[in-house]
Amino acid sequence: MSQDNNSKNVTDKFSIEELIDRKKRNLEAIFDSVPVSLLLVDEHLNIIRVNDTTRKLTNKDYCDIINHSTGQALNCTTVTIDQKECGKGQACKDCPLRLNMQKTLQTTEPVHEFEFQSKTHFQDREQNPWFALSIEPVIIEDKNYIVVCLHDVTERKSAEEKLIEAMEMKSQFISTVSHDLRTPLTAIKEGIDIILEGLAGKVKKKQRKFLELAKRNVDRLNLLVNDVLDFQRLDSGGMKFDFTLHKVTDTIREVTEIMTLLAKKNNITLTVDIASDIGEAVFDHNRISQVLTNLLSNAIKFTPQNGSVSLEAIRQHNEIVITLSDTGIGIPKEDLSKIFEKFYRVERTANKTQGTGLGLAIVAQIIKRHNGRILVESQPGKGTTFTIHLPVDPAESDTDKDAANG
Ligand SMILES: Nc1ncnc2c1ncn2[C@@H]1O[C@H](COP(=O)(O)OP(=O)(O)OP(=O)(O)O)[C@@H](O)[C@H]1O
Ligand SMILES: [Mg+2]
Repeated sequence: MSQDNNSKNVTDKFSIEELIDRKKRNLEAIFDSVPVSLLLVDEHLNIIRVNDTTRKLTNKDYCDIINHSTGQALNCTTVTIDQKECGKGQACKDCPLRLNMQKTLQTTEPVHEFEFQSKTHFQDREQNPWFALSIEPVIIEDKNYIVVCLHDVTERKSAEEKLIEAMEMKSQFISTVSHDLRTPLTAIKEGIDIILEGLAGKVKKKQRKFLELAKRNVDRLNLLVNDVLDFQRLDSGGMKFDFTLHKVTDTIREVTEIMTLLAKKNNITLTVDIASDIGEAVFDHNRISQVLTNLLSNAIKFTPQNGSVSLEAIRQHNEIVITLSDTGIGIPKEDLSKIFEKFYRVERTANKTQGTGLGLAIVAQIIKRHNGRILVESQPGKGTTFTIHLPVDPAESDTDKDAANG
C-alpha cells in the first residue's frame, strides 16, 4: 500500500481534530519522558509549562509549578527559608539560573551545559543538587520564551568530588612517604661514603665492588624520591619559584659542563652553541637547570654510543629559544602527545632503560610556570628535538600557553 493511500485511510477514520489531538498527545508523551527537566519560561521568568521529569524532581503538583517563579517551583532557599520573593533575595543577584535566563531573554543567545550547584533544597536530598543548565530561546505566537533544561548531575559531581578527595589523599600519602624516606636515605648514603673512603678501615676490592653497587642504587632511589617530591609540589602549586634576572649563558654552561662528562662516559658527543647576544632573562635558575638536566640526560640515555646531542640557544623577539637535538632512538608518533604525562614511558624502551617517567612531567610543569612552552619533534630511528620557548620576562608575558604540546 502506498504512503498516500495509507494516510488517506487514516484521515478517513479520524477527524482532523482527532488527528491533531493524537499528535499533541504523542508530543506530550515525548516531552514528559525526556529524562531531564524542561521548563518553558516567559519574559517575566514565570513558568508556563513543565514536563513530568520536573514534577518528579520537585515532588510537586503541576499547579504548584505552573505560573510560579523558578525559585518557588524549585524550592530555592531564598523563597522557602528566607521567605523572600524569587529575585528579591540577597543571593538572587548572583543566582546562575536567574542570570542565565535573563541573559538568553535579552540577547537570544543560548546557554549550553552550564554547571552549577543550586540553592534548591529538596527534603529527600542531603546536599543541594548540581545542575547542568541549557537554555534555548523560542518564539511562540510572537512572544519571547525560553526553554530551560535542567539536568541533575549531582551523582556525577559527588563522584568527581570523592575522586578529587581520594587523589589528594593519595598525593599527600606519596609526599609523606617520599619525605620520610629522604632522611634515612641520606644516612645510608653517608655511611656507604665513609666506608668507601676507608675511614672505617681498609676496604677489600670485592667489598668495594658491592659497596659501589649499593651507592649507585641509593643514588637512584634518592633521585626518584626527589623527583616524586618535586612533582607533587609542582602539581599542587606548593613549589615556590625564585624569578630573578640571570645571564642565560651562565645557567646553560653550568648544566652542560656536567652533562658533557656524562655524554663522554657514554661515548656521545655533546655540542653547545649559545648565541653571543643571548643576554639576560628572568627565570628560576635552579628550576631551569633542572629542565636542561632532565632533557639532556634523556637525550644521552636514549642515544646509542657514537651518537651526538646538541644544544643551541638563541634570543628571538622576546623569547629565549633553546633547541636540544639528539641522534637517538626517537619517539613513535603515537607516544609524542603522552610523554609529558606523569609516569609515562614509551613501552619499547621502558624495559631497557632506567627511569620513572617523571622527568618530562616535571619539565612541562616548570616551563608552564615560566609562561613558556615546549615542543617536541621526533623521527623513530633518527632522533628527537625538544624546543623550549621561554619569555624573557615571564611576568610580562601574557601568554597562558599549555606547556606540554607535542
Ligand atoms: N630524547 C629522547 N629520545 C627518545 N625518547 C625519549 C627522549 N626523551 C624522552 N623520551 C621518552 O619519553 C619517556 C618519558 O621521559 P621522562 O624523562 O619523563 O621519563 P624517563 O626518562 O623514562 O624517567 P625519569 O626521567 O623519571 O628518570 C621516556 O621513557 C622515553 O620513552
Ligand atoms: Mg627522563
